[in-house]
Amino acid sequence: MTTLPDFRLETHFSKWEFKARHHLTASDAQSMSLGDLLAMAAPEDRAGFEQMWLGYTETYGAPDLREQIARTYVGQAAQNILCFAGASEGIFAANAVLLDKDDHAIVITPNYQSHESLPVSICSATGVPLDPQDGWSLDIDRVAAAIRPNTRLLTMNFPHNPTGAILPLDRYQALIELCRRHGIYILHDEIFNGLGPSDAVHLPFIADLYERGLSLNVMSKSYGLPGLRVGWIAAQDTALLSRMERLKHYLSICNSGPSERLAMIALKNRAQILARNCATVDENMPRWEAFFGRYPELFEWRRPDGSCMAYPRYKGKDGVEAFARDLVEQSGVLVLPSSIYSSDLGPVPEDHFRIGLGRHGLEEGLAAFEAHLMRNGH
Ligand SMILES: Cc1ncc(COP(=O)(O)O)c(C=O)c1O
Repeated sequence: MTTLPDFRLETHFSKWEFKARHHLTASDAQSMSLGDLLAMAAPEDRAGFEQMWLGYTETYGAPDLREQIARTYVGQAAQNILCFAGASEGIFAANAVLLDKDDHAIVITPNYQSHESLPVSICSATGVPLDPQDGWSLDIDRVAAAIRPNTRLLTMNFPHNPTGAILPLDRYQALIELCRRHGIYILHDEIFNGLGPSDAVHLPFIADLYERGLSLNVMSKSYGLPGLRVGWIAAQDTALLSRMERLKHYLSICNSGPSERLAMIALKNRAQILARNCATVDENMPRWEAFFGRYPELFEWRRPDGSCMAYPRYKGKDGVEAFARDLVEQSGVLVLPSSIYSSDLGPVPEDHFRIGLGRHGLEEGLAAFEAHLMRNGH
């Protein structure tokens, strides 16, 4: 088995996530306590949680949970859903099952690293960059130019980590048509779908539009429940799901039973939870906008289309790596510099940093950020 490279983002978080005083770069919405989630439960769901048998569960996921997940799509049924331990296991399984050493993959850059490192560890891959001059959008002609006779998979993620960009609908449809003509699977990481400013317009899920589309989703981000470790892939191609299910026997085997009950409760209260999390983004957006507005010589701000992240540009002479390092080491404020998002498949901008808009308590972190800038003569 090929040795995988260090996962830069997760390695950085291992060092800082629980140590930095102000985590201003989270990609997940504000979480909630077990008590708060259970307070939303119908009596029978609460009883289902409290009285549950702590044995193994089904590898595909609990049947009622798969049905509930299927209801978040337009045209999927329980048989179109395979559950995973978080989104990460789904990314691993999709790449392992779809790709062989003689295949070719197209990867949109920058990206959440497993979307690049996993295909690169299996086969040849071409990176197609998002264009910062075009609202971090994707040039479909560049994707077309990257296609080879053996291209098997294209991987993308909208709303996008780290920029918060959403691909315009007409380009999304053009991309699907292009892949359809060439028989290419699309793994679409849709884990920020439903999250963003309240006026965000989200893309339809790919499993509903494309027979070779894999819709990756999870409780971690838009729902703010990463501790449940419940994710899934929805797809029309049930034979492919079955191959991934067999691979899952080598991985987590099944979800945590209590987490399945809790995910059920959250999905039954989906609209309420998403509205709560989007409201937090709405509250935090003007705070960040006012902050960046005070330092136009230092930062270039772009409002994200969706998700609870943004990727402003840093214009200071010291460069964003030194800036982000000093910020966390001297003032306990954590942001993610561009190096975390570097790619082996081509250049990506090196002067940006990721910030978060999804958590409570931003004012305190921003005050520490601002104090840091003042101490450094800005
Ligand atoms: C785009 C993207 N995909 C997948 C994941 C992994 O999600 P999970 O924690 O549910 O495994 C993350 C986590 O940050 C992410 O940002």
